[in-house]
Amino acid sequence: MTDLVAIARQLFANGKGILAADESVHTATARLASYGVEAGEEMRRQYRDLFLGAPGVEQYLSGVILFSETLLQKGNDKKLFPKSLAERGIAPGIKVDLGTEPISTSPQELITQGLLDLPERLAEYKKQGAVFTKWRAVIRIDGNDLPTATAIHENAKRLASYAKEVQTAGLVPILEPEVLYEGKHSRQRAHAVLEETLGTLFSVLEEHSVDRASLVLKTSMALSGSENGKRDTPEEVAEDTLAALMKSVPKQVAGVVFLSGGQSPDQATENLAAISRRAKEISAPWPLTFSYARALQDEALALWKGKEENVPAARAAFLSRLAKVSAALG
Ligand code: 13P
Repeated sequence: MTDLVAIARQLFANGKGILAADESVHTATARLASYGVEAGEEMRRQYRDLFLGAPGVEQYLSGVILFSETLLQKGNDKKLFPKSLAERGIAPGIKVDLGTEPISTSPQELITQGLLDLPERLAEYKKQGAVFTKWRAVIRIDGNDLPTATAIHENAKRLASYAKEVQTAGLVPILEPEVLYEGKHSRQRAHAVLEETLGTLFSVLEEHSVDRASLVLKTSMALSGSENGKRDTPEEVAEDTLAALMKSVPKQVAGVVFLSGGQSPDQATENLAAISRRAKEISAPWPLTFSYARALQDEALALWKGKEENVPAARAAFLSRLAKVSAALG
């Protein structure tokens, strides 16, 4: 039998973390377009190879979350991406949700899709080399009106069903209820919403008897909204983020990873460093690490511009950011 707890714990070993390289075709196309790169399937393969094929990434990465298209593509080394990652001791993971759609009773909020054919897809992903998975739910803050309790609860129920299916299939689930950074809200409001979101999630997980020891939580930090105008100090972010986690996250979970959520690379690095320091001070019971997409990739993408001759400089920027983010873990 697969030892899911061991796989989950391994994601936190040796000061390493996770690269989220699981942008959907739609998101990857938009992200690359914002750097002036027109992306078809081959350009998306080169985009993935820029990061996954960078020599030395195994020093910093315990895992990579892939999109389904990438599971079946080969790197410039002619090996399938999941195989080449596994050979370097990096666990291949897969995003399994199918994106979001508006909630009929609260159309400004979103519910995540993808449960219907999940068992069949999991069997395929496992054959293709994935050992862990990710499901993202989106929680939006707007004044005191959003999120609604319904949005939090319905997303928690789907996260629980997802986690159960994934554990049954012999894979580790990462549960990502992302409280969005976008908005005008205060850090205090983000703290309260994070606490409610995580509290609801873990009580629903308990009702569904989901095994906590073999799951990983992927969470936002408690931050003033991106349009709030206030820049929180890393110490403020650390204090509020850990207060919310300590209140809501059971000590049994395999670990907690952070998303970057639209913070700049430096901001995401400094906040992680403060969170890591504070977690040690208060003896937080779970291991912590990063699972960033934008904060790890943005500087490299700005240099790459889709051009072969820029690959070395772009990879050097990626490795330099990886070194800073993993040093932030202390
Ligand atoms: P960011 O770090 O860019 O927020 O992405 C993480 C992620 O996995 C979003 O689903």
